[in-house]
Amino acid sequence: MSAIPAFVRLDSTLLTMLFSCQQRSPSLLYFGPRLEAQTEHDMLVLLATRQEVKCAMVVEAPISLSPLLGEGFTGAPGLELVNAEIAWSFGPQLIEVRQHHANQVEFVSVDALRGIEVTHSIDLDATTHVCRASTTLRNLNSQALQVQYCAAPTFQLPDNLTKLVSFEGRWSNEFQRQSMAWQLGSFVRENRKGKTSHDTFPGLLSHTPQCDEQQGECYGFHLGWSGNHRLRAELLADGRRYVQFGELLLPGELTLQQGQSYQSPSLYASYSNEGFSALSRHFHRYVRQQLLSPAQQQKTRPVHYNTWEGIYFDHKVETLKELADKVAELGVERFVLDDGWFKGRRGDKAGLGDWTVDSLVYPQGLTPLIEHVNQLGMEFGIWFEPEMVNPDSDLFRAHPDWVLSSANNEQLRFRNQLVLDLTRDEVVEYLFNAIDAILVAYPTIAYIKWDMNRDINHAGNFAGKPAVHQQTLALYKLIDRIKAKHPGLEIESCSSGGARVDYGVLAHTDRVWTSDSNDALDRLMIQRGCSYFFPSSVMGAHVGPRDCHITGRRVSIEMRAAVAMFGHMGIEMDPRELSEHEFQTLQTAIALHKQHREFIHNADLYRLADDEYAINFGLVNADKSFALFAYNSVRETNRTTPNKLRFAGLDPQATYQLNLVWPTQLKEYSSSVLTAVEGQLFTGQALQQFGLQLPITNPQTSLVFALNKQR
Ligand code: GLA
Repeated sequence: MSAIPAFVRLDSTLLTMLFSCQQRSPSLLYFGPRLEAQTEHDMLVLLATRQEVKCAMVVEAPISLSPLLGEGFTGAPGLELVNAEIAWSFGPQLIEVRQHHANQVEFVSVDALRGIEVTHSIDLDATTHVCRASTTLRNLNSQALQVQYCAAPTFQLPDNLTKLVSFEGRWSNEFQRQSMAWQLGSFVRENRKGKTSHDTFPGLLSHTPQCDEQQGECYGFHLGWSGNHRLRAELLADGRRYVQFGELLLPGELTLQQGQSYQSPSLYASYSNEGFSALSRHFHRYVRQQLLSPAQQQKTRPVHYNTWEGIYFDHKVETLKELADKVAELGVERFVLDDGWFKGRRGDKAGLGDWTVDSLVYPQGLTPLIEHVNQLGMEFGIWFEPEMVNPDSDLFRAHPDWVLSSANNEQLRFRNQLVLDLTRDEVVEYLFNAIDAILVAYPTIAYIKWDMNRDINHAGNFAGKPAVHQQTLALYKLIDRIKAKHPGLEIESCSSGGARVDYGVLAHTDRVWTSDSNDALDRLMIQRGCSYFFPSSVMGAHVGPRDCHITGRRVSIEMRAAVAMFGHMGIEMDPRELSEHEFQTLQTAIALHKQHREFIHNADLYRLADDEYAINFGLVNADKSFALFAYNSVRETNRTTPNKLRFAGLDPQATYQLNLVWPTQLKEYSSSVLTAVEGQLFTGQALQQFGLQLPITNPQTSLVFALNKQR
């Protein structure tokens, strides 16, 4: 074993993370712009020297990677452990630092008296600037160790951060940003829904007062986990602050016997001194380059048709073929048969669990429909909700004991369904075989929309223990097993819209269903919130019906298409409702999306400053030779003319030709700036610094501009 270094430094091309190993356990000393060679690590330690304060510890307890009661820490401990003896006061000593390569480190600390080992694993991706960090706990003691909490590494943050941004939501209105000041004590969000949840997304931003979308210092944190979570940002009375993210474990959920270990979910973190958009670009690149499978990184994302808001449970082969004909003509490339195809599923009251094709609706099985779809040149995808069962199903009648429950407590009702106990091997075997049988019977099924439509309110498994932790791991394993058996199969993570959108599930899947709301106006804010951590390539975005089924709002086809175009585009409606104009507009929009989709799914995102009248953003390619900018007016402006569009991310010295690419026809009250500027040349500087006067449009209008750099 080699000697413990005083510091461990991880660098990306832009950032440095510096860990101090000078105390009993390691801590994060610095996380920010890459340190110059002349900046010696001891300098930072000296600069951080604090004097003794009256009525306080002579030296403050450190905010180590797992700050502990055993270290005298009086903030929130990173580990809460109980055994028959003194595990509660766990006080480890750093004994080994392992570095397998320059950007990665493992700090191994052991408490020999208590027989517990903790390992903090951290890597900083050299080119995307995203750090991934987890904590692993191992019980070396013959006594059983109850783990009440084991957070991913706790990160102390600089004291110039004054603001926090969290993301909250509800069904059909996910990813709403909530801004607040750091205040003494803890800001805590806890999630016990048994899935990532609509309510609280496990992510947080912290920033300086000067930070906005294009400038200033900010940090982003996200826990990659699809079960229960707790996130905390605490400001201590002594002025220090830290963030701590971990899996929320239910009472008695996790016990480690001798030799057993537990690894926390990974915390993903990054920093930027160029504002929130740059921070998001780090996360986007990380998802594209590190999280998604190599196959998915290469694949062009096909335009979807999803049957849900088109026909709901009203499945008829002839109707579905007719829909397929229509959407193929629109340019759709993947036809996804949503809920309603399996035995007894004529509504949401029955059928979940019986994953065989309903012979009453599909007398010849799915073959006639799939062949029809394939002959039209479209891939076929299908919906499953594997973790669920309706009491009115053959599966439940045969195995009423296969569900999660808690003894002598009535199950809360939720969409007429219960949650299967994935910690039972026979349940997982059943699900694997059922899904596999469909994929074997219909080998051209290329896609699964994997749904999960209720909370886990009674998380007890067959052994009577709460089991969200094991249930979540079993889900990941089942998805991996199905994918391994069917190479090339793609899976979308859906949970009543965006209740299971996180890096944990995304590491096993390929796309997320961002929200059940297809209302283009609401969707703008939902997609904007989601874009802090997720790139457009994984964000499912569909053109919904003329009158939105969830909000009742009528939005033009031009705007609905413009909003969906900037995600993984699809349509979800009954295409028979389309007027001739709407049909042609949608066809043109899909063609425009296809023309630019490689760019849209890989370009750098620049969210433009919020103004309450419009939601605007731009995408710029790596060499800044091409850009698309979207202006989405959402309400009438206070002044007669709207504010200017100030572009971002362009090369100030380059000259660009400006063109309006969407909509193809815009009704204007009088000839506007658009007539004057169309096809004209402007420098990046003029576009960014001076800005483009926007035309007067009806509220709820989307304009998309293309910028082509001139040689
Ligand atoms: C959930 C999904 C929808 C749809 C329905 C089907 O609500 O989010 O997209 O698949 O289930 O029941």
